Amino acid sequence: MKHAPISLRAAQALRAANTLRLLRLAGPLGLVAAVAVACGGGSSTDSADATQAALVAQGRQIFRFDTFGDEAQWTDVLKMHDVINAAVDPVTALSVGLKVDAEALPAAVVAGIQNGSVDLQSPATTVALLKLNAVVGVKGVVETVNGVDRLVRVGITCALCHSTVDNSFSKGIGKRLDGWPNRDLNPGAIMALSPALDLAAKAALNSWGPGKFDPRHNVDGLSKPVVIPPAYGLAGIHRITFTGDGEDIAYWNRYVAVAEMGGQGTVIEPRLNLRITHGTDDLVSAKLPALQAYQLSLGAPPAPAGSFDPVAAERGRIVFEGGGKCAACHSGGSFTDANTRLHPPGDSMAEPETPSYASRSATRLYRTSPLKGVWQHAPYFHDGSAATLDDVAQAYNTRQSLGLSAQEVADLAQYLKSL
Ligand code: HEC
Ligand code: HEC
Repeated sequence: MKHAPISLRAAQALRAANTLRLLRLAGPLGLVAAVAVACGGGSSTDSADATQAALVAQGRQIFRFDTFGDEAQWTDVLKMHDVINAAVDPVTALSVGLKVDAEALPAAVVAGIQNGSVDLQSPATTVALLKLNAVVGVKGVVETVNGVDRLVRVGITCALCHSTVDNSFSKGIGKRLDGWPNRDLNPGAIMALSPALDLAAKAALNSWGPGKFDPRHNVDGLSKPVVIPPAYGLAGIHRITFTGDGEDIAYWNRYVAVAEMGGQGTVIEPRLNLRITHGTDDLVSAKLPALQAYQLSLGAPPAPAGSFDPVAAERGRIVFEGGGKCAACHSGGSFTDANTRLHPPGDSMAEPETPSYASRSATRLYRTSPLKGVWQHAPYFHDGSAATLDDVAQAYNTRQSLGLSAQEVADLAQYLKSL
């Protein structure tokens, strides 16, 4: 079976696989030293805070706007710039879950959208939005030829999948919410628009559905997506991904930036017999410390007032810690035992599944999911098989024969909604 060009490249990489050790993080960025010097007048705490703030600010810029040179994949290989120029008007873009950053829109464009003079059914409007850097997670280079704007390069950033907007302007248009998974985004359907893919590859991508992506697909050639998880609430958790593959965020960021986004750099993972290098420059390594600092600064969003019943949630807490036995694994402030152990596949309520996601990972195990902000990102479990937190509570009750009453299951769900 023929896969996307990205798969072919990964297959070549696999053949070249060796046992080289994992690349270690690059040293701290030069910027850090520069800021530290600039802040020399203050106390050492002040200057440490300023250094950290500068690192986080730089990481935010990378998270939102850096493509790591992945235009090589999205433009040169997948020809997505041609697709966008020809056929992706804003209505279509919003329908596949792309989001527009309202704060990047000048007043005249806002007025034009409001009074209908901006044509939301013209691909030229999408190109105009890209020129304004207003499409979340998509970076374009627009050139004007004979007075007409054309998209000549396009790439993606982390924000494509791990940011959404608050819909404050209209559905899909609003202020950025970094770290929130974009569960409307349909990455498979977007990639399937590429003229570079054959029908089998397109069919596989189109089967994924919104809010899901398979980050192992182009490594092992299988196709079974997982839900896009939050990139918030991860401070203090030293096992990253559903399967706990890495000890820090930077491990996975390198993997995604190179293997999935197509960024320029190298990822080596002996446990997966994986070695991929794109290009001759490394546009990834030096950015990882700042990128990680930014994600660690993103706290999980608190449950909105009125979104759960506090009295039932308090009863649910007792079930969680008692008869539900949830705290045996969902322990501590982040509600996970990730720092001490991972779990056999059978401990996931989404298993057994074919193919097993764990079996495609480096650890072949699952991490207990952290639960802060869990109200925000339905559906649940790595495959999205539980639509609601009530479904989660019921799944455990049935599968683990917990013997909880209907009331206890409902209370447990209220507690989960409050975290
Ligand atoms: C095409 C969509 C997509 C893009 C682009 C993307 N990710 Fe992800 N990300 C995913 C999916 C799907 C997973 C789940 C993989 C897993 O856990 O096995 C994931 C997992 C993660 C995790 C692990 C979360 C946890 O709970 O441990 C972090 C952190 C993360 N991504 C950050 C990033 C950063 C930073 C970038 C940019 C370098 C990025 N992602 C680009 C889809 C994406
Ligand atoms: C034996 C360890 C263990 C126990 C006990 C346990 N969990 Fe989990 N939990 C996990 C693992 C592992 C996952 C990740 C499963 C997956 O994504 O496939 C998970 C996932 C979840 C999720 C999904 C989070 C998300 O981001 O999708 C919720 C919610 C949850 N558990 C709640 C509970 C509740 C409520 C209980 C008690 C009834 C409980 N868990 C008991 C290990 C456990």
